[in-house]
Amino acid sequence: MSVKIQPSILSADFVNFERDFASISEADGIHVDVMDGHFVPNLTFGTGMVKRMQEIAQVPLDVHLMIENPELWAKKYAELGVFSVTFHLEASSYPIETANAIKSNGSRAGLAIKPGTPVSDIEHLLDSFDQILVMSVEPGFGGQSFMPVALEKISQIRSRLDESGSQTWLQVDGGINLETISLAAKAGADTFVAGSSVFGASDRNDMIAQLRIAASIARSNS
Ligand code: DX5
Ligand code: ZN
Repeated sequence: MSVKIQPSILSADFVNFERDFASISEADGIHVDVMDGHFVPNLTFGTGMVKRMQEIAQVPLDVHLMIENPELWAKKYAELGVFSVTFHLEASSYPIETANAIKSNGSRAGLAIKPGTPVSDIEHLLDSFDQILVMSVEPGFGGQSFMPVALEKISQIRSRLDESGSQTWLQVDGGINLETISLAAKAGADTFVAGSSVFGASDRNDMIAQLRIAASIARSNS
């Protein structure tokens, strides 16, 4: 499976999204961090903003919901036509039903876990999702350092997915740069969210290309 690089617009200019989307035109997807100020101590944007993003985006939108009550909201994002909608296990009472609601509206369904949540909590759910997101920072803010605890979890999930021949994507989010992407790829991740490392680069498309090469090399050596 080829590696995918998804810049996180949490590090973009919030009043110049259209300009900043153009600067990451070579990305495989745009990662859209939705925060509600409750599940995480930060607030970003909601369905109205994401609806406009979907209208102008030239690459698929990967929506990461860091919100309470995904049972209510996940479906509303899928209805906008976005490529994927990921919600957190820690916020969800009915993960399988929520995944089915996302998929029935045409989006891929993703399940995210925070750094402190063990893989054993989601093992029985892997088959119900198109992508699994392992957070490598505490969700809420960009620019934090990669937490190595994510590597063992990625490796465990990769083993489970490979055992069953699953095509589910394994995504990692938080502190991904040219060094940490190799570690995460070697552990088994195939989809990489990168906020500050991409948006802090002078040539963002060139950074995306460099990250893709680093991940591809590490995946082929794993
Ligand atoms: C953090 C978000 C991440 C964040 C990543 O809660 O989910 O997507 O934007 O930013 P960096 O790559 O700077 O850690
Ligand atoms: Zn995210």
